[in-house]
Amino acid sequence: MIISEAPYEEVLAMRQQVMYPDKSIEFVKLPDDDMGLHIGVYENEELMSVMSVFLHGREVQFRKLATRTDMQRKGYASALMQWLTDYANDMKFDRLWCNARTNATGFYKKFGYKETDKSFVQNGYDYIIMEKTFNP
Ligand SMILES: CC(C)(COP(=O)(O)OP(=O)(O)OC[C@H]1O[C@@H](n2cnc3c(N)ncnc32)[C@H](O)[C@@H]1OP(=O)(O)O)[C@@H](O)C(=O)NCCC(=O)NCCS
Repeated sequence: MIISEAPYEEVLAMRQQVMYPDKSIEFVKLPDDDMGLHIGVYENEELMSVMSVFLHGREVQFRKLATRTDMQRKGYASALMQWLTDYANDMKFDRLWCNARTNATGFYKKFGYKETDKSFVQNGYDYIIMEKTFNP
């Protein structure tokens, strides 16, 4: 398993196939994607899971975590979560956060993320902001 930057076009394809299969590639682009760090997990040179990371001062938002549908529950997204925690520790960031689909909150809790009181609905999905803070 190798974690590295992933080509933007491949990240978009993974987002679309896994998260919004009935929408277009255009739909899954984020306005600030060009400011993001797009990270992928590769196995035998094939992309398995992706995540996009956005720095806001000493806080990091990660977005669009998605594992290839036929490769889920094999630890690929966990590897990205571990990479992100290590990155935050190395960089001495204060906080990691994401807009979590409510059906994925159990996944984030495994990595120490806590639900905040901020929630919303978008594109037919319920979201809650989850965060992990680091002590100085
Ligand atoms: C959520 C997602 C990224 C997890 O990816 P994954 O590569 O399958 O995750 P892992 O294999 O690393 O899972 C690690 C653990 O989390 C658990 N887990 C995975 N998805 C889960 C979920 N939705 N809810 C609760 N637990 C979950 C697994 O059972 C596994 O537990 P175990 O180690 O005790 O067996 C993947 O299911 C996915 O792409 N879902 C569709 C898109 C999505 O919802 N993205 C998140 C948007 S906020």
